[in-house]
Amino acid sequence: MASKDPSFSRTIYDLRYTSLQTSISFPEVPMSALTEYPDEYLLPEVRQLVAKYSGLSQENVMLTCGAAEAIDLIAKWSAHRTSVVLVPVIYLIPEAIQRACGRTPLMLLWSEVRAAGIHKAIDALSNGAADMMLWLVSPNNPTGEFLDAPTLELLTRNNKLWIVIDEAYYELSGWTASEKVIDTTNLIVIRTFSKGFGISGARCGYILSNPYIVREIQKLREPFRVSGVGLHYVRHALLNRTQYKDLWRKVLATRDCISTILQGANVNVVASAGNFITVRLSTEPVARELVKKCSAIGINLLGGWDREFVGLPPEHIRLAIREPFDSENFSQLFLESYDATLKTL
Ligand SMILES: Cc1ncc(COP(=O)(O)O)c(C=O)c1O
Repeated sequence: MASKDPSFSRTIYDLRYTSLQTSISFPEVPMSALTEYPDEYLLPEVRQLVAKYSGLSQENVMLTCGAAEAIDLIAKWSAHRTSVVLVPVIYLIPEAIQRACGRTPLMLLWSEVRAAGIHKAIDALSNGAADMMLWLVSPNNPTGEFLDAPTLELLTRNNKLWIVIDEAYYELSGWTASEKVIDTTNLIVIRTFSKGFGISGARCGYILSNPYIVREIQKLREPFRVSGVGLHYVRHALLNRTQYKDLWRKVLATRDCISTILQGANVNVVASAGNFITVRLSTEPVARELVKKCSAIGINLLGGWDREFVGLPPEHIRLAIREPFDSENFSQLFLESYDATLKTL
């Protein structure tokens, strides 16, 4: 008889994706959410709720089919307005830009931003172009960089620049540029219900910007794109958002506890304000071996070579915290694989 695999009894930690796992219960979908196009009866109500949640008016809000559609639409909208597109290491955005306008974005390095200041870094890369679009994710997935208020202020005053800030992790980071959209003509914020609210299957995100930009982007797509069923769940999530606070607090506590333990064991942890921890290894083979060893004991992670992480040096791995769990048990298992990896290579 085959012997029992000891790893079988271990908890499976699926740390590949970043949408939170919520235990909040959702009511059944009413028939109308299924049988009616949502644009007239559900969408205006949810748009209003999103506006209130964001401290803005509904003219500042456009609901989209996930942040993914917001990214696509903004990239499309930018095609005739900008000649240069700049991105730091960033989620799938460069691919969307390439798809929408056939343009390869220039990669802005955060090390240069930090060394030279944002405007010098932009000028050096763009060769003084007069119509640029800068895409940022704050906090950045997976490298954790964070846009601070003085840098945002400087950027919005640059009239050669359109600025897009993807705040997919806003509920976790608590930081937003949204209030600036009221008195700014060049700023677009993207958010989603997939991450903090954990309803990625609802496929609902939104754009926050000034009413002119919102109207312009709306012209780029036909009606009835956002799902009524998705909106039904979004409405419930927003109306019950206080119930999420405990989940957000516990997920962040899990992240901090794991980060502290790993740092204490001399693991190179990249600080993040999102619900993920990025670890930098010495080389790509070390990172690959660690991902393999972790997978063998039921810890699933993504490596820097994954399609999600455009431009990320491959010696990184990302641990996404989707729900609170036993940080000490997890860290011990992870560190065993880490030590074994260092001994093998
Ligand atoms: C930074 C960032 N933006 C956007 C998305 C896509 O979100 P959505 O599910 O709303 O399309 C993700 C998902 O991983 C993300 O990490």
